[in-house]
Amino acid sequence: MIKVLFVCLGNICRSPMAEAVFRDMVQKKGVANQFEIDSAGTEGYNELCHAGIHPKTQEILKVMHVPFQQHYARRIRQKDYLYYDYILTMDQTNMEDLQFVIGPDTARKVHRLLEFTKNPRDIKDPWYTGNFDETYWDVVEGCEAFLRYLEESHSD
Ligand code: 4NP
Repeated sequence: MIKVLFVCLGNICRSPMAEAVFRDMVQKKGVANQFEIDSAGTEGYNELCHAGIHPKTQEILKVMHVPFQQHYARRIRQKDYLYYDYILTMDQTNMEDLQFVIGPDTARKVHRLLEFTKNPRDIKDPWYTGNFDETYWDVVEGCEAFLRYLEESHSD
């Protein structure tokens, strides 16, 4: 079982999108039973108000026929660091904020999602840009590259 946690700031726009996209991808490849997939945020303010997936994230997932589950935003906790194998962040700020919650990444589990692509970069926050389409295609690119990386590193 490979345990994957996607992380952004608020856990309502990008990381729930990545969770849904990656779950759909592994489902379509017939390997869903090899994965446990979840998402979380580095901040707790959306946890306090039990926020669900942002309506614009829901909209793009529906347009792209990517199913998603009932979701309540939550903040990443120290125990998540111990539990998950891969903690995949959306941007450099998430990487820095994570250190305050989980401490140093001694087990080297934390990666920026687009680091697995040929063009490593941040996934911009659509909460601020308003561009959920751009976020969606970045998330797809990152998830595809991450899955390729797993296939290559677990092939022997
Ligand atoms: P996310 O975007 O990190 O992609 O979920 C945000 C969601 C909520 C807020 C900021 C960013 N907020 O300030 O509540």
